[in-house]
Amino acid sequence: MRRLIKHILALTVPSEGVLVKGWVRTRRDSKGFSFLELNDGSCLANLQVVVDAGTPGAEHLPQLNTGASAVIEGNLVASPAQGQKWELRATKVELVGTADTSYPLQKKGHTQEFLRTIAHLRPRSNLYGAIFRMRSRLAFAVHQFFQERDFVYVHTPIITASDCEGAGEMFRVTALKGNIDEKPQADFFGKPTYLTVSGQLEGETFACALSNIYTFGPTFRAENSNTARHAAEFWMIEPEMAFCDLQGDMDLGEEFVKAMARYALDKCAEDLSLFAKFVDKAVMDRLKFVVDRSFVRVPYTDAIEILRKSAKKFEFPVKYGLNLQSEHERFLTEEHFKSPVTVFNYPREIKPFYMRLNDDAKTVTAMDVLVPGIGEVIGGAQREERLDQLTENMKFHKLKPEDYWWYVDLRRYGTVPHAGFGLGFERLLMFLTGVGNIRDVIPFARTPGNAEF
Ligand code: 4AD
Ligand code: MG
Repeated sequence: MRRLIKHILALTVPSEGVLVKGWVRTRRDSKGFSFLELNDGSCLANLQVVVDAGTPGAEHLPQLNTGASAVIEGNLVASPAQGQKWELRATKVELVGTADTSYPLQKKGHTQEFLRTIAHLRPRSNLYGAIFRMRSRLAFAVHQFFQERDFVYVHTPIITASDCEGAGEMFRVTALKGNIDEKPQADFFGKPTYLTVSGQLEGETFACALSNIYTFGPTFRAENSNTARHAAEFWMIEPEMAFCDLQGDMDLGEEFVKAMARYALDKCAEDLSLFAKFVDKAVMDRLKFVVDRSFVRVPYTDAIEILRKSAKKFEFPVKYGLNLQSEHERFLTEEHFKSPVTVFNYPREIKPFYMRLNDDAKTVTAMDVLVPGIGEVIGGAQREERLDQLTENMKFHKLKPEDYWWYVDLRRYGTVPHAGFGLGFERLLMFLTGVGNIRDVIPFARTPGNAEF
């Protein structure tokens, strides 16, 4: 039976009749025998395979080039070589698929930009193997975190008719040909529909029934921003809690980010060591720092004052009533506080209709969690649970309550204070790995002008 290399390398005693399957990373030929470095993606490390010239199948050795696939049977013995515990003495070699010299991953040291152009092959490189193993483990950790706390996982729809964020950055979904705005009532759903920008509104309906819920799914934004931290398709995790206020929301956001950092340190050590070596030397220290300390909490108004009083020259203006730009967020978390920061109570003008209006009638119960290297990783809020005020908020933002009748109904029938947030999964991964571009933490990036693969 085939065994994964990660399990073989973890063995504590030698073993006979071991069967492995994978791809050749390199081959070195000596007199009378060859060394193969075999990788099957189960871990970062390769298995060294020693093939004597007389081994059945050894005649295929000249074709067992970088990139070729192979099945090897052999005996696992202590390796005399330095830096590795085991090697496999082949008793049988089978060539499965050849790879000629046009295979693009011949040598190490390709740039991430180049590797994006071969996104179908890049998971076979050390870096991307590590990134996508980590992505998988962290997805599991997300579910574990919420399931352990009795949150119910809800699958909110991908096709929707409402713009949750009110920013109008939505992809249209249509079955119409020609002018799609002429007769939207003749379209598939009888009205204009879009790919969701957030599962929050539907998530709220479930929180107001099952108490604590979360979503974890694909999210789409048609914002034309070609930055290192925006993608048109990304994955968002959105918890929503009934009978919860802004304080409880900030507590959960902080606990969540910390738990993810702790999970990475505990469960992804091998892959993290690669990031620490080749991507971001500070990554371990940053994760430990996050796990150990409380996040700073600062009202938006104070954050603006800090930015205004700083000697730093910013590209974008700093003024009460304007959004914080990435450079502002990063200054707060990286330079001023040197800690993750939760900024809360933003002016109502720059935040969506669903946020709860504070008693000052100027600010809403919004909160953003900012982390070093990234800026905003979480955006959330306590929701407006008062029927009259929600209707007023909608008018303020030029929305029609009848378009959101079912959402408004939650305030009509058994309304409760409730709160939640959204965490961008790719931004979390950038933070945990130190990888600087969102295109490198998602298998196939969707960004303006780019939908290859
Ligand atoms: O701050 P946002 O827009 O908040 C919401 O969508 C709320 N409805 C969430 C909620 O309260 N349930 O987005 C939440 C997070 C951001 O902090 C960011 O991490 C990520 O989603 N995000 C993106 N990630 C990658 N590419 C994009 N274009 C993103 N836009 C937002
Ligand atoms: Mg936001």
